[in-house]
Formats: sequence, structure tokens, C-alpha cells
Amino acid sequence: ASMLHTQWIGTRLVYFDETDSTNTRARKLAEEGAPHGTLVVADRQTAGKGRRGKSWVSPAGTGIWMSMVLRPSMSPMSASMLTLIAGLAVVRGVKESTGLEAMIKWPNDAVLNGKKICGILTEMSTEVECIRYVIPGIGINVNMDGFPEEIKATATSLKLEAGRSIKRSLVIAAVADNFEYYYDIFMKTCDMSGLRDDYNKSLVNLGREVLVLDPRGQYKGKALGIDGEGSLLVRREDGNVSAVISGEVSVRGI
Ligand code: BTN
Repeated sequence: ASMLHTQWIGTRLVYFDETDSTNTRARKLAEEGAPHGTLVVADRQTAGKGRRGKSWVSPAGTGIWMSMVLRPSMSPMSASMLTLIAGLAVVRGVKESTGLEAMIKWPNDAVLNGKKICGILTEMSTEVECIRYVIPGIGINVNMDGFPEEIKATATSLKLEAGRSIKRSLVIAAVADNFEYYYDIFMKTCDMSGLRDDYNKSLVNLGREVLVLDPRGQYKGKALGIDGEGSLLVRREDGNVSAVISGEVSVRGI
């Protein structure tokens, strides 16, 4: 029985005790015709994927490893903003289910007390400028009691921050609920114009100094929030405002 109270996410729910990567599974299911809203959840991933070709450590019993199959008709540019919708759904879902106030680190992470609790990897398949499907993959550190030395300073779990174990199914259900809610608003315009205020309220970077690693030359500035296209607006030291496009550049807090 499913613990979800969603309208369409998880109408088809595929669960694995163990799989290579829920994103890879979701992709295969999508190729086989899986419907919009298919939800893939695993207890453990043996080949979890992070961004920039990195691996994502996904042990059994402690994390949420989930991916969705979405089939919106929109441009790839719009579809890439679904990463932002997933980030918003995670922070609001975590707040509702645990009371913990996570924040979004633009564009792909959620952080709690300055440490990473969630990473999002969105993959898509396109055909002549049209979306065939989009797979937002969400990894949340829930009940880990500690992290390897290399990432200890930058990673945390809901349990470590709350001081108690967290029931994963409650968090999954709340994230899925919130994703549906924000997805509906997003679909009215296929951009972030109706959601930028909500998004900016949860943005950890807001008002902070950031270092923009642009291949054409790095610069410092102050993050002003996202615009309707999901770009991060950064006021440079000379007063000019740049719109930073996710994927093109990397942003660091200083
Ligand atoms: C990152 O921060 O680098 C993104 C990490 C994304 C991890 C999730 S876990 C569920 C889904 N399946 C994967 O293989 N990756 C994503």
C-alpha cells in the first residue's frame, strides 16, 4: 500500500530494495513507455549518480533515493527549471514532515545549517527541441549517523540535525505533495515567474556574497534571487547585475 496522498505522482510506484540508480531505472522505464508521474524509489543504490559524473553514495536504510518520470510538453529550457521545482518541493516537504528548516542552495542542493542534506540530478531526453521525458532525481540524507572524513564538514542528515530518527515515508509523501503543488503553478507559464517569490524565500544564497565561476572569468557579487527564467541574479561589485544560468557556471558562497 502506498503512503502517498498525491493526485498523480506515484500512480505508478516502482520500489527496489536495491538498484543501480533510480535515475537510470526511471530512464529505462520511460523508454518503455512509463506514464507521467511514475515514481521510482530504492532503499539502496549501487551506482548512484551525482552531478558532473561523480558518484553518489547511497547506503541502505538511511536515505531517500527517488526519481520521477515527467512528460511535460515544453522546451528543454523550461524543463531544466524542474530542478528548481524539485528543490522547492524538498525544502517545503522536509519542513512539513520534520519541522526542520532546510534552505535551497541554487540551483541543485538543499542545505541545513550550512551543510548539504539533498542533491538533485535532472536528466532529460529531447527530440527536435521537444521534451520526450524529464527525470528529476532526488537524494536526501535522512538517518545517517555520520559521514566519511572527506565530506564531514559539508554534509549532514536530517537525523543529525533533528537529534532523532526520521520516518522516510513521511518525507517522501510530503516532498511528492509539494512537487505536485509547485508543478501546477509552474505549468501555468512554464517558467518561474509565479514562483520566484516562494523560491527566493527559501534561498540560502539570498543577500549573500557569491563567487561566480564563469569560464570567461570569475567574479564576486551579491545574490539578489532568481528571475522568471530561473537564473540567479548577481549584483557585481561594479553595480551591474548579471543573470547566471545554471549549468553554465558554478556559484560558491563565500
Ligand atoms: C548531486 O548533488 O551531485 C546530485 C545527487 C543526486 C542523487 C540522486 S539519488 C536519486 C537519484 N538517482 C541517482 O542516481 N541520483 C539521484
